Amino acid sequence: MNTLHIGVIGAGQMGAGIAMVCALNGYRVTLVDALQNALDSAKNRITAHLSKLSASMDMMSFHTDLTALTNVDVVIEAIPENLDLKHSLYARLSTIVRLDTIIASNTSSFPISDLAKSVTNPERFIGIHFMNPVLKMDLVETIPGADTNEHTLETAKTLISTIKKTAVISTDQPGFIVNRLLIPMINQAFIALENGLASKEDIDTALEKGAAFPMGPLKLADFIGLDTCLAIMETLHNAFPNSGYIPASLLKKYVQNGTLGRKTKQGVYSY
Ligand code: NAI
Repeated sequence: MNTLHIGVIGAGQMGAGIAMVCALNGYRVTLVDALQNALDSAKNRITAHLSKLSASMDMMSFHTDLTALTNVDVVIEAIPENLDLKHSLYARLSTIVRLDTIIASNTSSFPISDLAKSVTNPERFIGIHFMNPVLKMDLVETIPGADTNEHTLETAKTLISTIKKTAVISTDQPGFIVNRLLIPMINQAFIALENGLASKEDIDTALEKGAAFPMGPLKLADFIGLDTCLAIMETLHNAFPNSGYIPASLLKKYVQNGTLGRKTKQGVYSY
């Protein structure tokens, strides 16, 4: 059994998955949600999964009150993407957990350094961004903010590896890594569709069969939610207003240098 006691706040789509993955990998987990019915429905989903995997529910407890987190070592916050809501939660949480309890946010879009402002001891605050569905997707983006210390980052990395997921470290920039790269590509697929480049089926098939995507960009957009895609695209556009579709100067530099990829044995990587 892992010794850290994990608290998860928010028993929705992401929080229930995060809690389950931690429990499945031997962590004691306390799951808190403001709403009893959200907690009940998460409990039902988790029970169904854990019994299938013949793991026990003994590792988990369910609460509607934040004071259940008094003794946890790490808290992962997965409440809705609402800035005021998150800030007021952290202020209250700071009065409940120990001063050395690590506090992580699963935020998709808010700067970690900004969220950290309402945490007492912001050096123990970090972004830990799981992908949806949590059980299935191996990646977890880890985002240190301006104040995050080394111990917090190391604890996050250890947690991610013990739940058998892969951590990548992103700096605190909009979209982090996955959304920064993925969402503009999806956006381009919509532009291509609108321009009559090809049918939606052929655009998806092209990237599935021609670029080994498990799911074409338009299907993937439907899965993520088109509203979510647009919100992220708008965030990126606000952050990088003029950089959208201009050929990257770094790409031009590689080409000018004759470093063309595998065929010249040197591109971004060496071969
Ligand atoms: P959700 O709406 O499914 O779940 C949020 C839960 O938080 C609800 O059960 C709600 O009752 C509870 N809650 C609200 N305020 C609370 C409070 N003050 N204290 C305790 N519980 C509270 O949301 P979802 O989709 O799970 O998203 C959670 C976070 O994860 C957001 O920050 C979102 O941006 C991020 N995220 C979402 C992804 C997705 O695909 N849905 C992917 C990656 C990150």
